[in-house]
Amino acid sequence: MCVLLCQASYAARRDDPVYVRVLGAYAFMVRILVTGGAGYIGGHVVRLLRERGDHVVVIDDLSSGAARRIDGVDLRAISLTAPDAATQVASVMKREALEAVMHFAARKDVAESVARPTWYYRENLGGLVTLLEAMELAGLDRLIFSSSAAVYGRTEGAAITESDPALPVNPYGATKLEGERLITACSRAFGLRAVSLRYFNVGGAASTDLADRGASNLIPMVFDRVRSGRPPQIFGDDYPTPDGTCVRDFVHVVDLAEAHIAALDHLDAVEGNRVFNVGTGTGTSVREVIQTVAAVTGMKLRPEISARRVGDPAWVVASPALIDEVIGWRSSRSIVDIVESAWRAQHAS
Ligand code: WQD
Repeated sequence: MCVLLCQASYAARRDDPVYVRVLGAYAFMVRILVTGGAGYIGGHVVRLLRERGDHVVVIDDLSSGAARRIDGVDLRAISLTAPDAATQVASVMKREALEAVMHFAARKDVAESVARPTWYYRENLGGLVTLLEAMELAGLDRLIFSSSAAVYGRTEGAAITESDPALPVNPYGATKLEGERLITACSRAFGLRAVSLRYFNVGGAASTDLADRGASNLIPMVFDRVRSGRPPQIFGDDYPTPDGTCVRDFVHVVDLAEAHIAALDHLDAVEGNRVFNVGTGTGTSVREVIQTVAAVTGMKLRPEISARRVGDPAWVVASPALIDEVIGWRSSRSIVDIVESAWRAQHAS
């Protein structure tokens, strides 16, 4: 009965997310393309989409993603920067009767973007151009875009809102801001409905196979130092913050993945490109993160103070009020949950 009902409602409403009455509960079933779905964050979102019954197709060039993160998923090894990628992707969209796209495929290392700006523009912006061309060709008009707090650049003091000036200070942040602007232009040109999610500092893992492997971010870098018997490094302790070390807004990757699902289910109500911060609204200093690692691992850690890293703002903390008000999403996991889950995932591997 359920399957018949499912097919009937699917046939009746192919151009809308399918409302399927399953055992008394309503569930969405969306046919969705996830680019970069074999990556750290993409892999977590693909897991949630499949658990709720969505039909997922992943495009990933596997240059940094890992197929083992998404075992059993329809994975197409396509690079969005390949010469004929737009036609290839459009044909996947049409053949699979896809309805929406989540776009994670991008390079995200700030220091690397400073050293290789042209490559970052080609990969991040060029890849997005290809994807949007394919969506227009295939008649798809629903998109969730992976943006970043890096669009804000140097920020001081209060919690950052979406109406604060976006003045990126590195090519990585610039490609994300330009990406948002291009998506806004496409929403005017061909009616694209989009949500751009500006991630703050993401950490943690739902499981070992989904752990963040190649990250050059604080928590995995502290783990690397601890595992090799070296003291964690603090890049500067003379910032204008309570303990002198930089303050960031750490959001659990599972909270972030849940924000993507909530945004996807909100797309029907979106006009144009809606931008939201995804953070907790709580600042944690570098020193506090290291103290949390010590508490979680039971190790005595004596961090060494190194020189400031060029370009680091003292304070980057989100105001998550808008996404809560409009979509009803808010984070529910703490920095201890982030460090514990990250340590468990790194250690079990
Ligand atoms: C955090 C703080 C370092 C390592 C990243 C990226 C990007 C974006 C936002 C999504 C800084 C300090 C680090 C170490 C340290 N997210 N640090 N010792 O720079 O805030 O930005 O998150 O797009 O991923 O832009 O993250 O983890 O590199 O650094 O003291 O061994 O930790 O100086 O103050 P960042 P990060």
